[in-house]
Amino acid sequence: MEADGGRDLSRAAELTADPLLRRLFLRHAIDESHHAELFRARGRTMRAALGGEGGSFEARWITPGERGGDDLRVEDEGDASLLAFLHLSEKLAAARFAVYREVVRDEETREVFRRILRDEVFHMRYTRTQLERIAPARHRRHLWIARGSRLWKGYLRVATAVAGWLGTLVLLAQYFLVLPLFALAAKRAARRERPGWNEPERREQPGALERQY
Ligand SMILES: [Fe+2]
Ligand SMILES: [Fe+2]
Repeated sequence: MEADGGRDLSRAAELTADPLLRRLFLRHAIDESHHAELFRARGRTMRAALGGEGGSFEARWITPGERGGDDLRVEDEGDASLLAFLHLSEKLAAARFAVYREVVRDEETREVFRRILRDEVFHMRYTRTQLERIAPARHRRHLWIARGSRLWKGYLRVATAVAGWLGTLVLLAQYFLVLPLFALAAKRAARRERPGWNEPERREQPGALERQY
């Protein structure tokens, strides 16, 4: 979640009544904004090396695990549920950075991932330890609820995407299947018409002269 996550964590540090959590959230916030800065700097260097402009670097795709923070409303969460949510996000982020560190060939980028991975492992561990400290009897329950909520949000994202695709599909089907049928019917009707001016059909009824139509 990097820069955005840093803002959420600063807010969480303001809101918590627990002094140790406040210190840890602040350290976490500083780490995340440091990660964002590391990504930006690395992105700039790589673009410059490729001969591009400095520009900005979008790093959000790198850590989709931590992006779960997009849906987080720090104000609505208690310390325990926030820690459970953070623990899952950081665990996913740590797993991802471990993979990046292995697959990236460029030594400088590897070093960036190595430094970030160290922090992510710390985030993953402290969130778990603190969750167990403040909710010793219910920490597992908090983790299951956080897992469920992540799954539900993931499902909603997929369902929205599928609904969008289905809408497009129905419109395309209408365009390519239904419209040609109308066009065919119109063509047939045109073929039945006799060329030139045709006298309108007269209906000699008793009331024909009393009405306009
Ligand atoms: Fe991070
Ligand atoms: Fe993190």
